[in-house]
Amino acid sequence: NKVVLAYSGGLDTSAIIPWLKEQHDCEVIAFVADVGQDPEELVGVEEKALASGASSCHVVDLKEAFVADYVNPILKTGAIYEGTYLLGTSMARPIIAKAQVELALKLGADAVSHGCTGKGNDQVRFESTYAALAPQLEVIAPWREWTMKSRTDLLNYLASKNIPTTASAEKIYSRDANAWHISHEGGELEDPYCEPSDQVWTWTVSPEQAPDEAQYVTLSFEQGVLKAVDGETMTPYNALSYLNDVAAKHGVGRIDIVENRLVGMKSRGCYETPGGTVLNAALRGLETMVLDKASFKFREQVALEFSHVIYDGRWFTPLSDALLAAAESLAQVVTGEIVVKLYKGHATVVKRKSPNSLYSEAFSTFEEDEVYNQKHAEGFIRLFSLSSRIAAMHQADGNKE
Ligand code: ARG
Ligand code: SIN
Repeated sequence: NKVVLAYSGGLDTSAIIPWLKEQHDCEVIAFVADVGQDPEELVGVEEKALASGASSCHVVDLKEAFVADYVNPILKTGAIYEGTYLLGTSMARPIIAKAQVELALKLGADAVSHGCTGKGNDQVRFESTYAALAPQLEVIAPWREWTMKSRTDLLNYLASKNIPTTASAEKIYSRDANAWHISHEGGELEDPYCEPSDQVWTWTVSPEQAPDEAQYVTLSFEQGVLKAVDGETMTPYNALSYLNDVAAKHGVGRIDIVENRLVGMKSRGCYETPGGTVLNAALRGLETMVLDKASFKFREQVALEFSHVIYDGRWFTPLSDALLAAAESLAQVVTGEIVVKLYKGHATVVKRKSPNSLYSEAFSTFEEDEVYNQKHAEGFIRLFSLSSRIAAMHQADGNKE
């Protein structure tokens, strides 16, 4: 029996390796997805996996594919969960689980496993992907099976197996990072009336510490996709990394929220999405120039629907394909240049231009114009409000049958 485990090098997945071998009598293959998390986490990860008893360890570089094939298409939809969460963890799960399944199939494995708890969203996202791509694979979710309950339990278990670890019992926060964001949960954050301490945040400076001088970034988009930053053409991953750096310095992209998990409970999380916050502001700003009212409203509806598709782990579904196709279609005109001002936690669009702009100064000016006849508005308003007029007349007539 062979199991491919989504392995991070952290305490949980390190304990899962010997546990799988013992409880499921199988060979364990470690799979590590590089989606742009802290490169430190990848240093020595193979040695760690082997020391824990894995038969091999496969690190797969998914950084560019993650940004090009997941982040950027999702960004076009405008999806933001419950009004604030830019979906950083949610977005990465489908590509990680897909690459894991591909490895499992290539190596002829019988099962896949992950370190998600039985209380969260991530288990659903991983396993929905497994189900869509390789339903024949058995799924092993140790956190739903074993009796261990704390980091101390896991450390004791590793010690009993003589497996060395550098992990400690008192890691405060549960964090998850990729090229798009880092999440922080647990510790004092479990009390929603407790303000996050400074040690929660790891990517961004606090807005109070940010420079007193604003910085401007220019973003060039083609059909809804970022092509250049400050005039320099960059790959999707490099552009995002660059924006992360500049935005983080200005304290941009922090949120502190209570969200509805798919499994019913609420959870409190602090998330940092510096580059993503800039990108999202810029793309939405560009849309305001090129999408008419009805198209814009439809894009907003796509965004709302798609935020749940992504959050709920439904990437590999027909609904997801349909919504992505709609967003892609609307994005055909989303070409142009946006300047964003970064200042003490804010990313503000201050300049926009597009060859497809529907903005017409000739029409909108508050000065005298030559193109618009104000009299035309009268007939429009009479018809636009006709049903209200009829209803009011009906009431005034006093309910005559
Ligand atoms: N609550 C967020 C989400 O569901 C973040 C989850 C973080 N996951 C983790 N394994 N630390 O998308
Ligand atoms: C977990 O429970 O494994 C992390 C949090 C989540 O998935 O929502």
